[in-house]
Amino acid sequence: MMTVDLRSDVVTLPTEEMRRAMYEAELGDDVSGEDPTVNRLEEMAAERLGKEAAVLVASGTQGNLLAILAHCRSGDEIIAGANSHIFWNESAGAAALGGIQTHLVPNQKQGAMLPEDVEAAIRPGGDTHYPPTTLLCLENTQNQCNGGVVTTEEIEGVCRVAHDRDIPVHVDGARIFNAAVYLETPVHELVREVDDITFCLSKGLSAPIGSVLCGSHEFIAKARRWRKMVGGGMRQAGIIAAPGIVALESMVERLAVDHSNARLLSQGLAQISGIVHNPETAQTNIVFFELEGGFGTEAEFVRRLGEKGISVNSSYGRIRMVTHRHITPAHVDVALTAVSQLMGEMGR
Ligand SMILES: Cc1ncc(COP(=O)(O)O)c(C=O)c1O
Repeated sequence: MMTVDLRSDVVTLPTEEMRRAMYEAELGDDVSGEDPTVNRLEEMAAERLGKEAAVLVASGTQGNLLAILAHCRSGDEIIAGANSHIFWNESAGAAALGGIQTHLVPNQKQGAMLPEDVEAAIRPGGDTHYPPTTLLCLENTQNQCNGGVVTTEEIEGVCRVAHDRDIPVHVDGARIFNAAVYLETPVHELVREVDDITFCLSKGLSAPIGSVLCGSHEFIAKARRWRKMVGGGMRQAGIIAAPGIVALESMVERLAVDHSNARLLSQGLAQISGIVHNPETAQTNIVFFELEGGFGTEAEFVRRLGEKGISVNSSYGRIRMVTHRHITPAHVDVALTAVSQLMGEMGR
């Protein structure tokens, strides 16, 4: 039986070239700034994202946390999307470790926030009842919003509102290269107006570990101190940086293949009786859908599809499939056939 793992792009394994790069990496103590491979990755990342500096971090979650801690103090408030990963999936790190409250703003269907909603969420200054708003957090692509792409114009619209009030803007860009590839825009143009950004090496880009936080020299210096404080100072981290360099050099353009496979998946799902899915929502490598009433629960669907060799995730009533480097059109066919069979069985 062919098994197909559509749970997430985090399941991607390093390429042969990445494994070789890890073996051959020149190493040093990165906490002292002496790992040449980490230094090279950080320079490459900063240049690619159009920011002054960068710091390698253990994960996307750590990158977002360091950005929040570097911008805010205990008692401050950040604005984040009601469907954001920072709010839903990062263990309330900002609250627990920073004493920072999160004010939620609606995300549109594909993830964008409306400038008027951001404006309404910013606390007026000079009133002791209110916490100061000290950071706006965006997400691109927006995982929970169908892996949707937030356009340059949409980003710049909310940046203007925040910057007019001297509020910096951070982007959780775990999959920012998926957004840039979809928009056919150089990534540095897409994030030109934002102050800082985290992107992940370990998702669609296939590196085994790590994310990079990019921003101004001053901001990155603060983030480095927080990284040390939360135990993220790693020694010969060139082992992690080396596959990250391969990822940036050779894995970005191929994300278009994942998008094309996701479109095949999406179009196929939309044809299957009992599946509720709008194929227009599938922009990148993430496809969400629901089950029509009478076809059983999502949990049952996930379990029974797993028995047919197809692994997927579900949360809060929706089922998610994610394409990545190990998924080919043949895997998509196998998955669609299995879903079609299962819906026939569950609908009886
Ligand atoms: C949008 C988004 N941000 C951040 C993260 C966190 O990344 P990590 O798992 O490396 O902590 C994820 C992980 O899936 C994500 O989807």
